[in-house]
Amino acid sequence: MSVQRYAVIGHPVSHSLSPRIHAAFARQAGIALEYSAIDAAPEDFDAVLAEFAAEGGIGANITLPHKTRAAQICNYLSEAAQRAGAVNTLIRTATGWQGDNTDGMGLVRDLTDRHSLDLRSRRTLLIGAGGAARGVAPALLDAGIGDLYIVNRTAERADALADVLAQPGRVHPRYLNDIGNLGNFDLVINATSAARGGDALPSLPINLVAPRGAAVDLSYGEAAVPFLAWARSARAHDCIDGLGMLVEQAAESFQRWHKVRPETDAVYEMLRNRDAILVTAD
Ligand code: ATR
Repeated sequence: MSVQRYAVIGHPVSHSLSPRIHAAFARQAGIALEYSAIDAAPEDFDAVLAEFAAEGGIGANITLPHKTRAAQICNYLSEAAQRAGAVNTLIRTATGWQGDNTDGMGLVRDLTDRHSLDLRSRRTLLIGAGGAARGVAPALLDAGIGDLYIVNRTAERADALADVLAQPGRVHPRYLNDIGNLGNFDLVINATSAARGGDALPSLPINLVAPRGAAVDLSYGEAAVPFLAWARSARAHDCIDGLGMLVEQAAESFQRWHKVRPETDAVYEMLRNRDAILVTAD
C-alpha cells in the first residue's frame, strides 16, 4: 500500500512545526505517513490544493493566510468550521473536501487539560477580532466562560464577531480605547497578529488581569514574547503561549484523519525543550 499523504499548506510555511508534530504522532500510533509543508501564495492556493489532491493527498492542515479560502472550497463544513468561518483541517472524501476547525478545541484542551484551568464563569477579554479570534471564541463560549468582551483596533470587526457569536447578553464588543474602563478579567487572550507583523502591542493597562487570572497569547515563539512580558508585569497567575494549543489542534486533526487520539504531552515537551522558542510561524 502506498504511503498516506498529508500536508500543511500556508504562506510562509517553512517554519511550521506541524510536520514534526504529525511525524511524532504517527510514530507513536505506528502509522506510516508522509506529512510535508507546502508553500502557496494566496493566488495559488486553489491550484496547489488541487495538485496535492491529484497526487494522492488525503488530508491537510491549513494555516495563514488560507483558512478562510479553505472554508469556501469545501463541500461540507463541520459546525466548528461554520462558526469560525475558517478551516484548519481538510479531510478528503469521495466527493471533495470536508472542512473542520480544531483551533478552538485545541485551545480549550490546552488550557483545561495541560494547564488545569477551570474556564467556567471566567470573565474573559479577547483582544483582536480577526481569523484567530474567530476560530477560538465559539469554543471558549462552549467551554462555559462567563461574559466575553471583545476589543479590536478596528471596532467594526469586533462588532461583526459579536454578531456572529449571537449571544448578546454574554458577548460585548467594546472600543479598544475604552479598555481601561472595562474592569479586570479572569482570562485575557491576545488574538492579534501585531507582534507577528513586527508591530507594538496595543497599549494594555497593568490592572487588566484579575488576581489569579490567566493571560494567553495564541502565538508562540518570538511572536508571543511581548504579550507574555506584559502578562508577567501585570502579575497574571498563568502566562501561557500558543505552543500547547498548536499541539492540541494537531492532535484533534490527527484524530479526525486516523481515528486514533495521540498522546500530546511528550510531543509538547519535545518542542518546548528544543528550538521552538525561536520559531515564529506555523
Ligand atoms: P489572524 O488570522 O492572525 O487573526 P487577521 O485575520 O489578519 O489574522 O487578524 C489580525 C488581528 O490582529 C486583527 O484583530 C487586527 O486588528 P484589525 O482588525 O484592526 O486589523 C489585529 N492587529 C494586527 N496588527 C495590529 C496592531 N498593530 N495593533 C492592534 N491590532 C492589530
